[in-house]
Amino acid sequence: MQYRKLVRLATAMMDVKILLVFGLLKLQSASCGDKQPNIVFILADDLGYYDIGYHGSRIQTPVLDNLANRGIKLENYYVQPICTPTRSQLMSGRYQIHTGMQHKVILPPQPLCLPRDEVTIAEKLKEAGYATHIVGKWHLGHYAEFCLPTKRGFDTFFGFYNCAVDYYTYDKYNYYRYPNGTNLQMLGKDLWRNDSEFVAPQYVGEHKTRLFASEAQRVIRNHDAELPLFLYLAFGAVHVPVQAPLKYRKMYRDVENEERRLVLALATMMDEAIGNVTSTLEETGLWDNTILIFSSDNGGATSFGGSNWPLRGGKKSYYEGGIKVAGFVSGPLLPPNLRGSTNRELIHVSDWFPTLVHLARGNLNGTKPLDGYNQWSTIWHQSPSPRKEILINIDPMIECTNCTKNSHWRNDKFDVHLNAGLIVGSWKLLTGRQEHAFWSIPAEIQDVLRVNTNTRGKLVSLYNIKSDPTEQTDLAECMPGIVHRMLEKLAEYNSGAVSPLFPDSQEEADPARHGGAWGPWV
Ligand SMILES: *[C@@H]1O[C@H](CO)[C@@H](O)[C@H](O)[C@H]1NC(C)=O
Ligand SMILES: *[C@@H]1O[C@H](CO)[C@@H](O)[C@H](O)[C@H]1NC(C)=O
Ligand SMILES: *[C@@H]1O[C@H](CO)[C@@H](O)[C@H](O)[C@H]1NC(C)=O
Ligand SMILES: *[C@@H]1O[C@H](CO)[C@@H](O)[C@H](O)[C@H]1NC(C)=O
Repeated sequence: MQYRKLVRLATAMMDVKILLVFGLLKLQSASCGDKQPNIVFILADDLGYYDIGYHGSRIQTPVLDNLANRGIKLENYYVQPICTPTRSQLMSGRYQIHTGMQHKVILPPQPLCLPRDEVTIAEKLKEAGYATHIVGKWHLGHYAEFCLPTKRGFDTFFGFYNCAVDYYTYDKYNYYRYPNGTNLQMLGKDLWRNDSEFVAPQYVGEHKTRLFASEAQRVIRNHDAELPLFLYLAFGAVHVPVQAPLKYRKMYRDVENEERRLVLALATMMDEAIGNVTSTLEETGLWDNTILIFSSDNGGATSFGGSNWPLRGGKKSYYEGGIKVAGFVSGPLLPPNLRGSTNRELIHVSDWFPTLVHLARGNLNGTKPLDGYNQWSTIWHQSPSPRKEILINIDPMIECTNCTKNSHWRNDKFDVHLNAGLIVGSWKLLTGRQEHAFWSIPAEIQDVLRVNTNTRGKLVSLYNIKSDPTEQTDLAECMPGIVHRMLEKLAEYNSGAVSPLFPDSQEEADPARHGGAWGPWV
């Protein structure tokens, strides 16, 4: 349009040549990206590997399929097995062994958050001139003001702090155990605007997924187009308690298993919500200069209807089903020849930090040593990934009480009783107690929720995830050399690990003391 206007103007001025040249130059430089791109990062919650249409499921996610089919699918893409760890790495670019977030997730009454001295991606993008907004789930701590999103680099926040809330009431229950063994039931609501306004009561009855989409649309409409936009949209769907309106449940009425039906319905609803958000990006003209990234935060929760078929395990598990998820990059700025392509290079959630800072033309000044790699050229130029390995985690707080004592693996460098996982090239090594070791067939294929295996309890296992992506064959006994080398690597990582932060819950967090709200209490 600008081009045509220029041409008309030029004709009128009878000075066609010069202005045409200007117009062309302008177009060309725009397509080379002289403007910082808008970055929209959509994080789904507990969305299983199989719970997206383009992975072969009958689930209906036409918007995501279309974005992915016009974008670059990341098919060797890893995250962390649970919520807080993935979010902590997305925000900080650093492994949990370096931030203290190794153990589980942040519990509602726990005085814990992403350590204050970790620089967040929002801070770096803000520094680079971006307007920064988060809509949805935070789950990086809320016990003190300094933990909250608007204190961690976001201009605005609309959403909740905890792992999950009821989709309609915004309630969150938690049990607090007194030293004498009695339980105190803590119940409160969790929905905030900008960290200062407790807004849960006024939205009771509105479905969370629709609400977050409309808040994201509001952010987009109010955005000053002079500034580049960073929108982090963390839906919190399809996390339990899975709730979806009848309209979407009806689409899967033939799926008998109710938990499964609800997950399918809610994923379809989220898909529609994402379509609403991208439509608003288009209507406002921001889309032309937007890079959209989609990712799940971990594998599907197989005990609650999620599916990672045919991968092994699910949420919480270091098997592929827990950490290998759907992810893609989309938007009109991608190189035309790569639209509709698949990228099979190794990419990890911690890589977004340096990659997005690069895209934003920011700098990494002031950050602690990053565990993430800049994957810009991997994604944009199909270069080999600079990443050769992923430390899944080392959690010294998970005890291996009933592990088989196959003592020949007792290693002088790394205590194999520690719960750990490491990927190096094609190899994945797991040590200590490993949970969720089963494969789970989605109910719409066969109404068997789990296929149990008896492999639980082994101290050390090794899989070739290239030739055996579903992790059927434990090769530890036949490949002792590789096991030992990987144990040495784990020992190296472990020597640089900080102690896990996992403080006792506090009674003072009880929402009953704070007007029914889950929020800061320190
Ligand atoms: C949100 O809070 C930030 C920081 O306190 C403030 O700058 C901004 O104006 C607020 N935005 C809205 C929409 O209230
Ligand atoms: C346990 O401790 C709590 C808090 O001090 C108290 O309210 C409760 O009555 C105690 N329960 C028992 C069974 O002693
Ligand atoms: C999408 O937008 C339409 C039109 O405003 C609305 O009716 C629908 O509820 C929205 N869907 C979701 C899931 O937000
Ligand atoms: C990063 O910090 C160094 C040292 O303070 C400074 O010289 C350099 O200009 C900074 N780089 C950017 C891009 O701000």
